[in-house]
Amino acid sequence: MKTHAFDASYLKTLSTRISHITGVKIDQRLIHQLEKAIQQRMHDLHLEEPFLYFQKVLGTSLEAESELMLVITHILNTETRFFRDKGQFKLLKEQILPEIIRKRQGTHTLKVWCAGCSTGQEVLSLAILIHQLLPNWSSWDILILGTDINELALEIAKQGHYPLSIAQQLDPQLLERYFTQQEEKWCAKPFLLNRITYKQLNLVDDHFPNPKQLISNIDLILCRNVFIYFHKDAIESVVHKFAQTLCHEGFLITGHGELLGVSHALKLELRPYSAVFKKVGDSQP
Ligand SMILES: C[S@@+](CC[C@H](N)C(=O)[O-])C[C@H]1O[C@@H](n2cnc3c(N)ncnc32)[C@H](O)[C@@H]1O
Repeated sequence: MKTHAFDASYLKTLSTRISHITGVKIDQRLIHQLEKAIQQRMHDLHLEEPFLYFQKVLGTSLEAESELMLVITHILNTETRFFRDKGQFKLLKEQILPEIIRKRQGTHTLKVWCAGCSTGQEVLSLAILIHQLLPNWSSWDILILGTDINELALEIAKQGHYPLSIAQQLDPQLLERYFTQQEEKWCAKPFLLNRITYKQLNLVDDHFPNPKQLISNIDLILCRNVFIYFHKDAIESVVHKFAQTLCHEGFLITGHGELLGVSHALKLELRPYSAVFKKVGDSQP
């Protein structure tokens, strides 16, 4: 593939626009990823002149918007694993989910949201815990929501097919209970996968709470390894929206330290393995 040199001011305009739309910080990693993505797109589109690509992606047409989203999906980190943080998942299994389930015994309703779920491993891990705690879950009205800005990642999540290497991330009993092996992949069993609702959602640009989309009155929001890439204003604005979206005494769990120095109105609780954030009162910052 031919390598092109880019005009610094166009690169700056594009990276600033991406940062504004997605909340991600502009740093050397982002610029490097962006340059790689543009090289790839120019190659795919048979464009010889970088100027022509910038004209295409920086326009205001629908076509420009979808090109921009495509570049965004190329540059955002989508790394994820099943039960990625063992401590936080232990805390979820032993304390947080049992507390929520006790609270919801009267109504048999439960709403959990994995925000920035990438290819689905995190939301499936959460669904597995809920099923272990509520084996009779068909008598419950449960929303297990997975959202991400990246449509390509969501396509993989919806399919629920994973490489054989996930066997290193899951106990053999879990693998056998919740997945079936087909040729060179492990496939999430339909009774688990069908319980998950996947939606494309940009945490920064899209509006929520949004009761029409069921994104309101949520018992638990898991948003891990997303804010590490965000600038502080974006984190504050998203956490503010999360606070509005949680039910009374609902929980937000982020990656460790991701809300350090961020102002918000949620109550910090130190639990075994992790801090969690709880909505008390109105949680209006
Ligand atoms: C590193 S992955 C983390 C995946 C998972 N939460 C975990 O911890 O394993 C970060 C995810 O956040 C998503 N993301 C980044 N910016 C976003 C935004 N503005 N709105 C929604 N999702 C976003 C990315 O597409 C990516 O899938």
